[in-house]
Amino acid sequence: MAGYDELADVYEWLISDAKLTPEQFAASFQDVIRLLPPDARVLDCSCGTGQLAVGLADLGVQVVATDASAAMVRRTAQLAEQSGASLRAAQAGWDELPDHFDDATFDMVFCVGNSLHHAEGVGGRFAALESMSRLLRPGGRLVLTSRTWELVRAAGSRLDIRDQLVRRNGRDALVIYRWEIAPRWDQEHHIEIAVAQVDVDGSVVVRSELLSCWPYRYDDLRTQLESVGLRVENSTFDPEAEGYTVVARKE
Ligand SMILES: C[S@@+](CC[C@H](N)C(=O)[O-])C[C@H]1O[C@@H](n2cnc3c(N)ncnc32)[C@H](O)[C@@H]1O
Repeated sequence: MAGYDELADVYEWLISDAKLTPEQFAASFQDVIRLLPPDARVLDCSCGTGQLAVGLADLGVQVVATDASAAMVRRTAQLAEQSGASLRAAQAGWDELPDHFDDATFDMVFCVGNSLHHAEGVGGRFAALESMSRLLRPGGRLVLTSRTWELVRAAGSRLDIRDQLVRRNGRDALVIYRWEIAPRWDQEHHIEIAVAQVDVDGSVVVRSELLSCWPYRYDDLRTQLESVGLRVENSTFDPEAEGYTVVARKE
């Protein structure tokens, strides 16, 4: 289990200004959304607090939102209710998805926002990608975003304290990332994320979580995608850039 139950309540302090609303989050994927057929069925399989899922539902897409974290699924369901969006939200880890849905159910599966590295090692990542692939109809697409782990590992273990307070819901918070980089690629790594909220009376409330992750090289990700029947159709990978998006098509 990857955690996030503790961070779920303060997750908006971790989302960039440009993707805070469902409309903005969905707009950031407009290039792939326009490829969807009418009456498309889409799965967001690491939905977090639900901005993308709700943004897609608002565009008239039939959306299912899943996540391993019960608290994240609750936040997605709440956001959908507040927004009047119609979607189904369910708790499921990637490896459990085939128990919930028939093969070839979806036209598109999203696994975005630096999620896949939480799959445990090569085997866990393979199982996760295989589940996502099974649920796609032939010709359907997986949309995946990732950190460039080659750069993250090269920078080594470190503390990243943001130099500006982040303001959400009228409250400021300091966000801290602590990176624990293991000597070898295949070992468990950790990211500790802390959100220190400064209250109006000056008191500080800290929510933090130590998250496990297993990094991967871009080339290895491509090979794994191919091995589960997903052909990379489009990729923004640039070894100098912080992150990338891969769109892979089910053969
Ligand atoms: C960094 S958050 C990204 C959330 C959202 N996609 C976004 O872009 O804001 C990673 C998400 O992956 C979920 N996650 C981690 N391991 C998972 C697993 N094995 N199966 C499904 N979801 C998982 C976490 O609970 C968390 O919500």
